[in-house]
Amino acid sequence: MSVAGRRILLIVAGGIAAYKAIELIRLIRKSGGHVTCVLTRGGAQFVTPLTLQAISENRVFKDIFSLSDENEMGHIQLSRAADLVVVAPATADLLAKMAAGLADDLASTVLLATDKRVLVAPAMNVRMWGHAATQANMATLRARGVAVVGPDEGAMACNEWGAGRLAEPAAILAAIAAMLDRPQPLAGRHVLVTSGPTHEPIDPVRYIANRSSGRQGHAIAAALAALGARVTLVSGPVAMADPAGVAVRRVETAAQMLAACQAALPADAAVFAAAVADWRVAGAGERKLKKTADGAPPALALVANPDILATIAAAGPLRPGLVVGFAAETHDMLAHAAAKRVRKNADWIVANDVSPGTGIMGGTENEVHLVTGAGIEPWPRLGKEEVAARLAARIAEALA
Ligand code: C5P
Repeated sequence: MSVAGRRILLIVAGGIAAYKAIELIRLIRKSGGHVTCVLTRGGAQFVTPLTLQAISENRVFKDIFSLSDENEMGHIQLSRAADLVVVAPATADLLAKMAAGLADDLASTVLLATDKRVLVAPAMNVRMWGHAATQANMATLRARGVAVVGPDEGAMACNEWGAGRLAEPAAILAAIAAMLDRPQPLAGRHVLVTSGPTHEPIDPVRYIANRSSGRQGHAIAAALAALGARVTLVSGPVAMADPAGVAVRRVETAAQMLAACQAALPADAAVFAAAVADWRVAGAGERKLKKTADGAPPALALVANPDILATIAAAGPLRPGLVVGFAAETHDMLAHAAAKRVRKNADWIVANDVSPGTGIMGGTENEVHLVTGAGIEPWPRLGKEEVAARLAARIAEALA
């Protein structure tokens, strides 16, 4: 088990769920891991330092201003000495402090000072969890790469029902093990990903769109983040949740997507998985088009959109070291993909057949060929997450 021999810094914040931290420590110890606890003032209202010390068989730190605590191990050293920092339970208050970068006690100072990965297990009342402030804080933390386990849904100590229960200690242990197991070959790298369709307005209420769901692009962003990359995901309008640990920039039109991509540079690699509209409507204005008395439909004049991939691939010194494009085709897929790679100055093209009947556009699976300068590799039909994981691994190899 990957927890064996690893050092977990466990921050126990206030809340009735703090008692479950004891079981978590027991499970980590049973798996051979070492635990050092930091107890917040609120946490100490629910569990005693003595209990944590007895179960962890280790010194418990709780006061940033205590001479003996700082003497023995300063707050910087405390987080640096760990393989992983875990906050369980993480209260709404501590999550807000993390999001804001406050450091007014030992726990928040350690969290600001750490250079280690952080896993939070939120626990709070259902309304506190659902509050826009907490959700915004969670989005900020996820975008910074903080991993999250739970909260679970169920009956709460306050006699309410809903999301806010601390994840079960076994689930937190599994999340810890998964994080410690995971290689981080893309740590320190920045990767730009585009995803989803673009919407091109016809007038203020109508637009031209396409069937892209964003599934493949979002999965690629998540897979790159899972390998430790800092990921900027520029997404057109999709119904997908933001991937964990990814900074998401939402746009509607191709012009906005290009601007967001340019603003995200420099990047070590860029993956253009968005289905960008090739054309936009010339002169789309502020006024809604009206039906005419004779019933004649309006004639829409289309103008070409910028090619985002080609523009970024020609960005001179700002060109990402590895540029990956997609080619969704319905016929002569490989010939078109190979030509596209050269024409757009991409390094790789992921080619897929999106003919009706393949179920690929908007579906959950994908069957791709990876077209590189070295040749064409057919990949088997896989779930879009697996395609994403394979592509992320190849990008990590290429950037190594
Ligand atoms: O030319 P085509 O649309 O087939 O090229 C597909 C590739 O180019 C995809 O990687 C897509 O994201 C990218 N693209 C783009 N901007 C456009 C059109 C396509 O980035 N305007």
